[in-house]
Amino acid sequence: MTSADASLSPLCAPFFTAYTADGQQCDAWPEQPLLLSLEQGGIDWPSSCRNGTCRTCIGQLRSGSVRYAIEWPGLSAEEKAQGCVLPCVAYPATDVVLEKVDG
Ligand code: FES
Repeated sequence: MTSADASLSPLCAPFFTAYTADGQQCDAWPEQPLLLSLEQGGIDWPSSCRNGTCRTCIGQLRSGSVRYAIEWPGLSAEEKAQGCVLPCVAYPATDVVLEKVDG
């Protein structure tokens, strides 16, 4: 790769990997919501509002950590403590393993 190639490629930026509990995986960019990374990786994940209020996208974080750009996403403190995440507004801080939550 030449230096010109590197300047054209956003892939040179640091990224994480998102894994789903059923074995799929995709690149997960720290600057974009996990939901977008899942979709860009071809992983089907439910969504609706895409702003952290409807909870359609709710998942269970099996490992790793996320951060939120909004102060209080649509999760209770107990849910956050239990590892529930809203991928539409959650940004990966590490590699993550997510599991869909039915209902
Ligand atoms: S899509 Fe509505 S909370 Fe994530």
